[in-house]
Amino acid sequence: MVFPSPDVDEFLHELTPPTSELLSEIESKSATENSPIIGPLVGRVLYQLVKISQSKAVFEFGSCFGYSALWIAMALPEEGRIICTEFDKGKVERGRQYFDRAKLSHKVTFEVGDAFESFQRYPGPFDLIFCDLDKRYYPQVLEVAVPKLKSGGLLIADNVLWSGKVLDRHDHSKDTEGIRQFDKGIYCHPELFSSILPVRDGLSVSLKK
Ligand SMILES: C[S@@+](CC[C@H](N)C(=O)[O-])C[C@H]1O[C@@H](n2cnc3c(N)ncnc32)[C@H](O)[C@@H]1O
Repeated sequence: MVFPSPDVDEFLHELTPPTSELLSEIESKSATENSPIIGPLVGRVLYQLVKISQSKAVFEFGSCFGYSALWIAMALPEEGRIICTEFDKGKVERGRQYFDRAKLSHKVTFEVGDAFESFQRYPGPFDLIFCDLDKRYYPQVLEVAVPKLKSGGLLIADNVLWSGKVLDRHDHSKDTEGIRQFDKGIYCHPELFSSILPVRDGLSVSLKK
């Protein structure tokens, strides 16, 4: 199975208006460097969800150099804040520079180190939590994130269809199993109402009841 369908993906990319100069630069660099980022199709959905939910307090698990965080920050009101987390100091330094260039530095805090340790230091509640770190850790995110989401808040996760690998019965890698467990978990969680949007590599949206 080929997922996402290359034809549909191309069609949607052609429909999508060009992003800003800065976002396009990051998109090209990440393609050259093979650094996975959400891309403009998912970026636009995040932007819409931040606006619709009127989120102000956002936490991101796995920020790389801040491309998804820029989409979120662009949609946040002036007093809104996003906390970004990333192991890699170099990526964080780049992220800070991108936020400076976007004139959005006042909306972001970058935490260098393990995302779960950083998360422990913030009491919450958060309006929106975005999950995009190593896929094996997704079930752990589900466990810790829900208690710190406000009622009516959103837990959003990228790559929840994992290039269709979730359907491959022979794939028992830690990442694939992590995604499978997460996907089941968000649908049967008593405090969540969840859907998976088949945009790009699959985006889950869970509303805390
Ligand atoms: C897919 S990338 C994030 C892309 C980013 N959300 C975007 O779309 O612009 C995942 C990042 O999470 C980081 N990461 C993975 N596990 C982590 C952890 N436990 N704590 C902090 N960062 C982590 C990796 O170093 C990598 O840069």
